[in-house]
Amino acid sequence: MGYKVAVVGATGNVGREMLEVLAERQFPADEMVALASRRSQGVEVSYGDVTLKCKALENYDFVDVDICLMSAGSAVSKEWSPKIAAAGAVVIDNSSCWRYDADVPLIVPEVNAEAVSGFRKKGIIANPNCSTAQLVVALKPLHERAKIKRVVVATYQSVSGAGKDAMDELDRQTKAIYSLQEIETKTFPKRIAFNVIPHIDVFMDDGSTKEEWKMVAETKKILDPKIKLIATCVRVPVFIGHSEAVSIEFENPISAEEARDILHAAPGCMVIDRREPGGYVTPHEAAGEDATYISRIREDPTVDNGLAMWVVSDNLRKGAALNAVQIAECLVNRKLIQAKRKAA
Ligand SMILES: NC(=O)c1ccc[n+]([C@@H]2O[C@H](COP(=O)([O-])OP(=O)(O)OC[C@H]3O[C@@H](n4cnc5c(N)ncnc54)[C@H](OP(=O)(O)O)[C@@H]3O)[C@@H](O)[C@H]2O)c1
Repeated sequence: MGYKVAVVGATGNVGREMLEVLAERQFPADEMVALASRRSQGVEVSYGDVTLKCKALENYDFVDVDICLMSAGSAVSKEWSPKIAAAGAVVIDNSSCWRYDADVPLIVPEVNAEAVSGFRKKGIIANPNCSTAQLVVALKPLHERAKIKRVVVATYQSVSGAGKDAMDELDRQTKAIYSLQEIETKTFPKRIAFNVIPHIDVFMDDGSTKEEWKMVAETKKILDPKIKLIATCVRVPVFIGHSEAVSIEFENPISAEEARDILHAAPGCMVIDRREPGGYVTPHEAAGEDATYISRIREDPTVDNGLAMWVVSDNLRKGAALNAVQIAECLVNRKLIQAKRKAA
């Protein structure tokens, strides 16, 4: 007998992708439940070839659920994750609500899978921010070889990272521009169509944004607290796929050639790096794919032991749904959970 799995936020960008990834990877579930807000009761979502009808989270009893993938934002997670965990399901949460809690492991399986067993304290495991997930997948193997001291990163983040309303806004604004209609801005603070916005999430006291702060705090928690990082997070008019221009300063020497070989062999990484027009990956090609793509690997002559590179991944997959499903697979493969109905 397999597991009973619930997906909360099943009508959202990430929730739909979670159901797709669970089906694609044949996660050992014998029952899948799709949950969302009351507004979405009865809405149909796909789980492989199966159509599921969404149920309302607020009326749902989690008593026989083994794993709950949460993807309904921080406020919902804050209220519901402890209740769901108390009912005996392991919660894998996509929001930022629990990521910085010392009693909640923050996991990217290619980087710190061993930390997953820490879920027992609260029954909750956190999934990182989309920009952090792809970054640490690419940094980890290089850190092991040459020890990273400092990272400077500029992100180019797609609108799907801000949810389904944000995708609709880019779509609407683009159509409005072509048909000479008035442009309405709701989700983003400025027009996103044919524009870029250097602001994601709220501003912090030091002038950085919360999205930038998240990249710092999460890289330290997942990879190494000694790594210094500064990020500039920028929203771009791309539907799916986040890109990052990354400059890294190492303690020890490492050549671009060595870095290429290390990344080539590293889990979750795919190096596409031909020094010719088109010999690199763009978000358009990364959309729908699982890998973290690394291109433009080159030495940075402005610092000792410096490298620069370009990192692209599908934010809905490695940045969210795929990573969450990989965490669930870790729990199963490491025999850290048992199906309740099997145990009974
Ligand atoms: N998009 C990304 O790249 C990404 C990456 C990492 C993490 N995340 C995080 O994942 C979460 C979801 O993101 P998203 O992009 O999928 O957002 P989204 O497209 O806006 O979807 C939000 C989902 O949450 C559900 N929801 C909202 N309020 C609810 C409530 N009171 N009870 C139950 N369900 C409720 C919505 O259901 P209704 O349709 O019924 O309203 C919908 O299914 C967020 O915390 C986000 O920060 C996103």
